[in-house]
Amino acid sequence: MGIETLKIRIKLFRDKKSSEIEYTYKKKFKDERPMVLDVLLQAQEEKIDDLSFRYGCRARNCGICTVDINGKPRLACRARVKEGDTISPLGTLPVIKDLIVKRDAIPRQMIGYNKIPYKNNLNVEADVSYHNLTACIECYACLDGCPLHKKNNLEVEENNAYLFGNPFSFLKLQRLYIDPLTPEEEKKGIIEKAKSLGLETYRREYQNLKIKCGVGINLKDEVIKPLLHAAFGNQIEKKRK
Ligand code: SF4
Ligand code: FES
Repeated sequence: MGIETLKIRIKLFRDKKSSEIEYTYKKKFKDERPMVLDVLLQAQEEKIDDLSFRYGCRARNCGICTVDINGKPRLACRARVKEGDTISPLGTLPVIKDLIVKRDAIPRQMIGYNKIPYKNNLNVEADVSYHNLTACIECYACLDGCPLHKKNNLEVEENNAYLFGNPFSFLKLQRLYIDPLTPEEEKKGIIEKAKSLGLETYRREYQNLKIKCGVGINLKDEVIKPLLHAAFGNQIEKKRK
């Protein structure tokens, strides 16, 4: 019996041009259900030796390996592929090369919001929601479907941040907001920052908002809703017909 294989399409972007190759993955054992990362590593080894992609921990901890599978963001080290699947770079950020996207304009949105003087990693006094939010691995899967991030011009100049926020940036703000170590006087500034990143849009779109976290954080209930409440009171608009 021959080696079992899987045909996978890989979309690459190089020199501002996109191309697509079909790669035949050779299973390492009969019933293997390979992860996306297994396919990329084998494709690099066997066919495209300069294939560029990112990975780190291989254990859903670092969030750096996110790519799109059939147009939806998935962690390459955790998502399994099947026959005919298409791997492409994250569609919500600009591509540098192949499957590597430019991530820096997102964390730069937080410049100036890390000035809390007393910090510890355990923060035992914090509410359970604070600890839920620490599960974020910065994979940026939640940019998909975000009506605010969609408004951004992704071609920002070097060292600039995107104008509009996203579930990740609001998660960071909400975590600071509910951190018992954050001084009261700092909290107003956090809400102002959230407003300046376009929080108002979430208020209008709240009922139709379809955002999904790569590690299962309830972004609507634990991030957007409490921030909207802190910023605007109980005024989430009704679902539009
Ligand atoms: S909130 Fe979830 S989807 Fe967004 S960056 Fe963090 S872990 Fe990834
Ligand atoms: S390699 Fe770290 S989350 Fe995938």
